[in-house]
Amino acid sequence: MSGENAGGTSPDTARIAPDSHATTTGMTGHGYYDANSRTQWNAIEAVLPLLDHAAATFPLKGDGVITFADYGCSEGRNSVAVMERALRTALPRTPLPVQTVHSDLPTNDFGTLFQNLRPHGQSVFGSGRVFSSAVGGSMYDQLRPDRSVHLATTFNAIGFLSRRPVETLPGYIQPNGPSAIRGNGFVSEEETAAFRAQARRDVEAFLKVRARELVPGGQLLVQVFGATDEAKTCDGIYDLLNDAVLGFVETGEIDRETYDRYYQPVYMRRLEELTGPALDPGSETADLFELNQARDYEITVPFVEQYKEDGDLDTYATAYVHFFRAFTEAVLTNALPDTPERGGLVDRVYERADEILRAAPDLYPFRYLAVAMLLTRKP
Ligand SMILES: C[S@@+](CC[C@H](N)C(=O)[O-])C[C@H]1O[C@@H](n2cnc3c(N)ncnc32)[C@H](O)[C@@H]1O
Repeated sequence: MSGENAGGTSPDTARIAPDSHATTTGMTGHGYYDANSRTQWNAIEAVLPLLDHAAATFPLKGDGVITFADYGCSEGRNSVAVMERALRTALPRTPLPVQTVHSDLPTNDFGTLFQNLRPHGQSVFGSGRVFSSAVGGSMYDQLRPDRSVHLATTFNAIGFLSRRPVETLPGYIQPNGPSAIRGNGFVSEEETAAFRAQARRDVEAFLKVRARELVPGGQLLVQVFGATDEAKTCDGIYDLLNDAVLGFVETGEIDRETYDRYYQPVYMRRLEELTGPALDPGSETADLFELNQARDYEITVPFVEQYKEDGDLDTYATAYVHFFRAFTEAVLTNALPDTPERGGLVDRVYERADEILRAAPDLYPFRYLAVAMLLTRKP
């Protein structure tokens, strides 16, 4: 993987209306997400043993083809790496052809995805038995025929809510609230409860549609950024974005009403909030899957480790801001009035974030916590 500092931005995708079960138009495109998602890869790498287990145990019966599907694949670099890993275990198990399906919102940068899938005019997977395709749609909807998928995965994606549960979030820009260190805002109990309930409905919706798509015995690996007693993955990054945006509210370039309505619709789940819909006896989705494994964990963040080693604040600030710009830019852009100045204003928000971080790096420490579960579709 390359460093956390390449690529350009994609205001064009931000202007397209979101899917009806989505609250973002996707990541910043044209290779920007791919270039700035080594941290997300580290979070995936930590659960590769679960993926290996799934690839070794999915049922081999297929109507002439075995299908693997990855939901929320973005531009595909990490999605391709995931499939490569699964194929290593799966191909020796079956003579059947394998189809890899890479799915994301219709507004995703599928051009970059297709280039990743066929980099030199040939399949990246280097096997005549592997065929790839892409599907545009919300992961909260059914996107594949009934009983057609053998192994389904999603990484760093199901935290993006399917809908905005509140109209305004006037105290802060992210539902889990500010970090204890920075404390630069507030989210009320009532607001938090609305997001928690939405996050639960989203896991239920996701499980329901995947249950239809999966063959009996099919494997489902769900992994996403989250929270533990120790910290939340939103700490630091959203404090910084909040401070940067508020700077423009103070100068009047972003009006207060726009700020009140603007929030990043992502929720940091704890492990029990991920597994609850599959396990709680009262839940509609409790009988669909068997839980094989579940865990929460923390990974090292490459740009944080680098900074600890070399103390190079310039490189750290650039990588840090590029990292969170890749997944926040589309929502921020869509939250601002659609004027000719909008693109420039968005650029300046991230430049401001860079300046604030350089001035006080200790105020915005960032850690990456994640939660994951591996499920088997019940017969
Ligand atoms: C942080 S990226 C993760 C990409 C990749 N899985 C990885 O781990 O590097 C999150 C992805 O989820 C997608 N996403 C957000 N909401 C979605 C929805 N409702 N349906 C499908 N994909 C969605 C975004 O477009 C984005 O590509």
